[in-house]
Amino acid sequence: MVSAGSFNADIAIITDDPGWHGQQLTQSLHKCGYKSRFVRLQDCHFDLDSDSPRINLPGFSSLPASVFVRGVPGGSLEQVVYYLDVLHGLEYAGVPVFNNTRGIERSVDKGMTSYLLKLNGIPTPNSFISSDLHYINKKIREYLNQGKKLVLKPIFGSQGKGLQLLEQASQLIDYEHMHGVMYVQEYIDAGESVGVDYRVFVIGDQVIASMKRTGESWITNVAQGGHVESIKLNQTVEQMAIDATRVTELEYAGVDLIRDKQGQFWVTEVNSVPAWKGLQQTTSEAVVDIISSQFLTHCGLTA
Ligand SMILES: Nc1ncnc2c1ncn2[C@@H]1O[C@H](COP(=O)(O)OP(=O)(O)O)[C@@H](O)[C@H]1O
Ligand SMILES: [Mg+2]
Repeated sequence: MVSAGSFNADIAIITDDPGWHGQQLTQSLHKCGYKSRFVRLQDCHFDLDSDSPRINLPGFSSLPASVFVRGVPGGSLEQVVYYLDVLHGLEYAGVPVFNNTRGIERSVDKGMTSYLLKLNGIPTPNSFISSDLHYINKKIREYLNQGKKLVLKPIFGSQGKGLQLLEQASQLIDYEHMHGVMYVQEYIDAGESVGVDYRVFVIGDQVIASMKRTGESWITNVAQGGHVESIKLNQTVEQMAIDATRVTELEYAGVDLIRDKQGQFWVTEVNSVPAWKGLQQTTSEAVVDIISSQFLTHCGLTA
């Protein structure tokens, strides 16, 4: 166990936009006796011009005790790879990163998430991913000709942005925002419950809360105007969310599921940097305290 005093006692919270979540985390960690500071990955540097290579984080004279990742900024491919390198670099230097960098890397990529879910037998919609537009167009036509609908998503997308529902072969498809990689998922028909999906918040191997989201359209994200209410899902569905978190090797995750009109649940996405503001409205327990306690335990710090 690393005591708070053996490194710089500070915890780095990686975020561009601290907001409500940043404030909550800061207060929760403070209650447990830990100071934290917000760090933008854009402001970190590798200093490799001496025999003691260093990663400099603004405001830190030495390495932080641990790192909580509240956001990884977008950018060019080089920038995103570089930001992940900073996190990997910190882990190589012995700094615990939460969620761990590999897990974040896998789950920010919707294609890799789908692959891992399928590989491990977790119900997830059929999907196909390619940078070959001819192949993608052929597959899209095949599905649409069978009367199936599809959803085209940016592989690094979030908050319901940039999603396109594909319903007809004649439809004009906007590939421009896909940055050269097309990720297409079969649309799950929720029947009369269209615009409803579920977010299950998993920490370790436990579900701490679940919510039902009702959107203004088929996209239910709270960021897109979706409303939330507390729900208790059955054990099989909860286990699906726990399994989805495990196969993406995350310490905690927000797992999205849709229930089709036959009643079958499908995991559509695993979020490694899940927001909990919506979820907090559905439970009396302080979600942030459960997260920070798991974080401190994972990092070998005492809660
Ligand atoms: N395959 C699908 N079938 C039906 N609705 C979907 C499907 N995939 C996503 N959606 C809807 O769009 C929302 C956003 O999709 P998601 O894959 O979670 O991406 P994001 O990272 O933008 O949240 C989901 O919460 C759900 O409401
Ligand atoms: Mg989502």
